[in-house]
Amino acid sequence: MSASLAGRHLVVSAGPTFEDIDPVRFIGNRSSGKMGFAIAAVAAARGARVTLVAGPVHQPTPAGVQRVDVRSAAQMHAAVFAALPCDAYIGAAAVADFTPRAFAAGKLKKTPGQDTLVLELVKTRDILAEVAARAQRPRLVVGFAAETDNVAGYARGKLERKGVDLVCANQVGVGATGFESDDNALLVLGHDGFERALGPAAKSALAGLLLDLVAERIGR
Ligand code: PMT
Repeated sequence: MSASLAGRHLVVSAGPTFEDIDPVRFIGNRSSGKMGFAIAAVAAARGARVTLVAGPVHQPTPAGVQRVDVRSAAQMHAAVFAALPCDAYIGAAAVADFTPRAFAAGKLKKTPGQDTLVLELVKTRDILAEVAARAQRPRLVVGFAAETDNVAGYARGKLERKGVDLVCANQVGVGATGFESDDNALLVLGHDGFERALGPAAKSALAGLLLDLVAERIGR
């Protein structure tokens, strides 16, 4: 039987962030939002109050979910922190690690003879790590790790470095299912050697299996 999440508040992030360079260009990534939206939908169906902080995606809002739309990593950071406190934070968004240092108010033009353009990027704030380091920390902080190679190794590094309770590792890149597809496979890693392979399965089914693990941990 599916574990109930009645009475719990979950904050879920989903989708990409777009980091604007000028009024017509941005840095983005291939996240469709499907994974995070599936988690939000299943959590709401199981009785949780769900705040879904969504980057720029074309996904319908799941029933019973409070959705906050954002564009940039900075806006996602603000929206996630405004939604706290919560019982569990699940960071499924593909947040940009770097953003342009400056936004050009007018469209950047190429000048005659120009062969290269150097764009200075600065690090964004790590939403997941900051939520996990907060004094009034959610009982459970779940991160994702999107990797093209050494999936388990890099994911374990993120588990330790970001101070989270669980990391869901998935493969992205050519031929991999992480981004955009309706299916995925997750390797969930926790402390004390916890390791659980979920899928391959539909993202909605994976959301249910992941939320069973979440409910076990925040239900006690
Ligand atoms: O949206 P879909 O098309 O369905 O694709 C799903 C997905 C591949 C995007 C999803 O399953 C996934 O892996 N999401 C995390 C993608 C990612 O950015 O991974 P990362 O390894 O770069 O980041 C690790 C974790 O830190 C993530 O939980 C991320 O939300 C978080 N992070 C990263 C940078 C930052 N500045 N703030 C963050 O909170």
